[in-house]
Amino acid sequence: MLTLCPISSTLEITSFFYKKEKDSRKEQTREHKWQQETVNLLTTPLLSAVLTLSSPILGTIPGQLNITSIAQVEPPKGAALFQKSCIGCHDMGGNILQPGATLFRKDLERNGLVTEEDIYNITYYGKGRMPGFGEKCAPRGQCTFGPRLQEEEIRQLAEFVKLQTERGWPNVETNVD
Ligand code: HEC
Repeated sequence: MLTLCPISSTLEITSFFYKKEKDSRKEQTREHKWQQETVNLLTTPLLSAVLTLSSPILGTIPGQLNITSIAQVEPPKGAALFQKSCIGCHDMGGNILQPGATLFRKDLERNGLVTEEDIYNITYYGKGRMPGFGEKCAPRGQCTFGPRLQEEEIRQLAEFVKLQTERGWPNVETNVD
């Protein structure tokens, strides 16, 4: 017992120190963690303040520039379709086959085509020497020999024609040659 005692006490002391060391290490990591949290706490409002201050500069101005440039550069959807399917006869809103049936307001009105729906229908079913482009256009002789257009495409075309008519057919840049 006596011989064991010092050993056990040494062991105890060693383990005590060891424990102590472990504890202080734990303490350190805890402290470290706390410091980190404090840093986080401090930087979050700081960061958000910086972001709030800079957001009018970072967010709005380039954003606005973007929106404006898209609005100015992006042509209406129907413009490319018109370029592809209609321009052969209706370049600049005219009519090379029938000069009294241009896409200008006075002709359209005289020919009874007032609404976007009217433009949709003539584009879909055709009339006289104007071929129809709709998938259900019939008889074949009244319809285009080229590819038929989807209803959505004809909708976009009608919208584009109507818009151009109201504007007096200004030049519209498209990405199609
Ligand atoms: C092959 C030539 C040709 C093509 C291609 C053509 N059109 Fe026509 N378009 C005509 C002719 C001819 C008329 C006159 C029809 C009539 O009133 O008898 C006309 C009339 C119209 C009218 C009515 C104009 C008015 O003042 O009465 C609209 C709207 C129209 N076309 C839209 C289109 C659209 C949109 C496309 C393309 C999808 C297209 N056209 C393609 C020949 C063409």
